[in-house]
Amino acid sequence: MQVLVTPDYLTLSRQAADIVAEAVRLQPPLILGLPTGNTPLGIYRELVRKHSEENLDLSRVQTFNLDEYIGLASGHPSSYHTYMRLHLFEHVNVPVERIHIPDGAPGTDTELESTCYEQAIHQAGGIDLLIVGIGSNGHIAFNEPGSSFTSRTRVVDLAIETRENARRYFASEKEIPHQAITVGIGTILEARRILLLASGSAKAKAVARALGGPVSEDVPASALQHHPQVTAILDEAAAR
Ligand code: GLP
Repeated sequence: MQVLVTPDYLTLSRQAADIVAEAVRLQPPLILGLPTGNTPLGIYRELVRKHSEENLDLSRVQTFNLDEYIGLASGHPSSYHTYMRLHLFEHVNVPVERIHIPDGAPGTDTELESTCYEQAIHQAGGIDLLIVGIGSNGHIAFNEPGSSFTSRTRVVDLAIETRENARRYFASEKEIPHQAITVGIGTILEARRILLLASGSAKAKAVARALGGPVSEDVPASALQHHPQVTAILDEAAAR
């Protein structure tokens, strides 16, 4: 694993966006795995800037988001569909038919959706570059502690800590979903290259356990130690 420590969040975001932009330039039909949360906001801002100021062309990429809440309509203000639209897709030229986000809207057969989502990733040829954040409990995407390293896209229950961390994105506690659809750890490990991003002191403990501790299903992100092409970009606070 290559570990890059940057002085601050802005530098982290720029370095990560440079890696993505370079990969897209080398391979325009790149298949990208994309995260949500606070951490990737800077990278999306930087990709939007590169698209408008440096002609970064995303018209041939295909994107697969890593997860989505169950029970929120795609237009709900706290859905990951909305997040991706507001922070990235509205501002760049990824064709809508090349954007994939699991559908967790009310009334969806989420088991079937999970199976189809996993198949869609395979049919696309697998993920070339997958960007992932880390939860304070060491989760990746919504693979909570205890998730199998061979897990696939599926319906999961959210950990209490994960729901607490999500509180800031919801109007009230009772609106926070209890379940999500997430790609599995097995799905993530099949990506050809992985970029792990972590920023801020609240992530330092999870980062230390993920990168420096034993590989264990108690710490989902520690699975990345098994992958041959991982770059972790940490700011100083997360690396501490
Ligand atoms: C959620 C997302 C994860 C993300 C994590 C950390 O649980 N499903 O993909 O990595 O939050 O988010 P943040 O970057 O806001 O700390």
